[in-house]
Amino acid sequence: MKKTIEYLNNKKKNQQKITALTSYDYPTTLLLEKAGIDMIILGDSVGTNILGYKDETEVTLEDMIHHAKAVSRALQNIFLVVDLPYRTHETPQEAVFNAKQLLKAGADAVKFEGIKENIVQVLKDNGILVMCHIGLNPQYHQEDMKQGKITRGKILDEAVQLLQGAKTLEKAGADLIILEKIPEKVAKIITENISIPAIGIGAGKYCDGQVLIINDLIGIGEKKFKHAPDYINLRKPILETLLRYKDETEKQLFPAKEHVNLIRTGELEKFKDWCSNQGFKI
Ligand code: KIV
Repeated sequence: MKKTIEYLNNKKKNQQKITALTSYDYPTTLLLEKAGIDMIILGDSVGTNILGYKDETEVTLEDMIHHAKAVSRALQNIFLVVDLPYRTHETPQEAVFNAKQLLKAGADAVKFEGIKENIVQVLKDNGILVMCHIGLNPQYHQEDMKQGKITRGKILDEAVQLLQGAKTLEKAGADLIILEKIPEKVAKIITENISIPAIGIGAGKYCDGQVLIINDLIGIGEKKFKHAPDYINLRKPILETLLRYKDETEKQLFPAKEHVNLIRTGELEKFKDWCSNQGFKI
């Protein structure tokens, strides 16, 4: 059954946690479908996690469309949110034009960073489902991030700003909200004071759901983040597999008998005769 915004709202109402992950490609999305995950957030983290960009500000709308199409080819039931990347939602007209392209590529909703109620309103007026994103906003906080200022809302002013921001966005019509890197107790108060689902990343257990970057969850990223669990580190077995492949290929142990195809009995001699008649080496 396709998961809808009503399904996600019901989960909040019934105090059932919403499960979300990022996914950037077709095979990963197939696995997320098998696992019964509720929501994929195809974020602009695709830039650093897949595309090798220096940070999120390099990601383009074309990048998001390309990856949204790949993800949506594997989608069956999961609700798909796709990011409007940096500088693609500066004006209401631009936000609507670009959001429509993401919907065409398969998104069920679009997400953008920051507290911009005019952008929420215009997207809603155009019938587009909207996820907002407050707390740490990598599109705008790169300088802070470089200086290690990651968590937002550790002091009264910031906590108040976040709560008021969430209320403003809810009032403007936002359907969903991400709380990124916010102290657990602040995220709890925000979550309990809005009627739309609040999905946390590094925001503690009281949010209506959780999202993680898939690379961090399965341990293929180079960095280890405090908010990500330590279930598995796939870098090690993947690297071991690559080294084994290299070694066995160089030593001519691969391909082995079971990996090769055979020419039909009797045909090889005929083929060799034909080759030598034509002057090919055999
Ligand atoms: O870009 C991203 O992956 C995000 C996550 C917080 C979902 O915004």
